[in-house]
Amino acid sequence: MPEAWLRLCPQAALAADRPIPVRHEGVAYAAFLLDGVPHVTHDICTHGPGLLSDGDIEGEEVICPFHQGRFHIPSGRPTGAPCTEPVRVFPARVIDGMLCIRTEP
Ligand code: FES
Repeated sequence: MPEAWLRLCPQAALAADRPIPVRHEGVAYAAFLLDGVPHVTHDICTHGPGLLSDGDIEGEEVICPFHQGRFHIPSGRPTGAPCTEPVRVFPARVIDGMLCIRTEP
C-alpha cells in the first residue's frame, strides 16, 4: 500500500531562521527548516498554551515563547524546563514543491 502523505503548504513558505504556523483540518502544526531539512511538530506546547511557531530557534531546539521551555525539533524531546512531555513530531518531506507529512501513528 502506498504511503499517504498529507500536503501542508508550499516548500517556499519554510524559513531557515524561524518556524512557521500551518493549519490543516483543525490541527495546528509548526514547520521548521533545519540545514535544509523540513521538520514538523504539533504547534501547541505540551506545557501550556504557547505556540511553538511563535518561538525562537536555537540550533536544533525551539524555545516556547510562553515560559521559555525547549524542545529538540527533530525528535520532539523536551530539552528545557518547564517542559517535560515530548511534543509530537511528524515524518516530513517535500514532494513536488509541497511540504508533506505522514500523520498515522
Ligand atoms: S507553555 Fe510552553 S513552556 Fe509553558
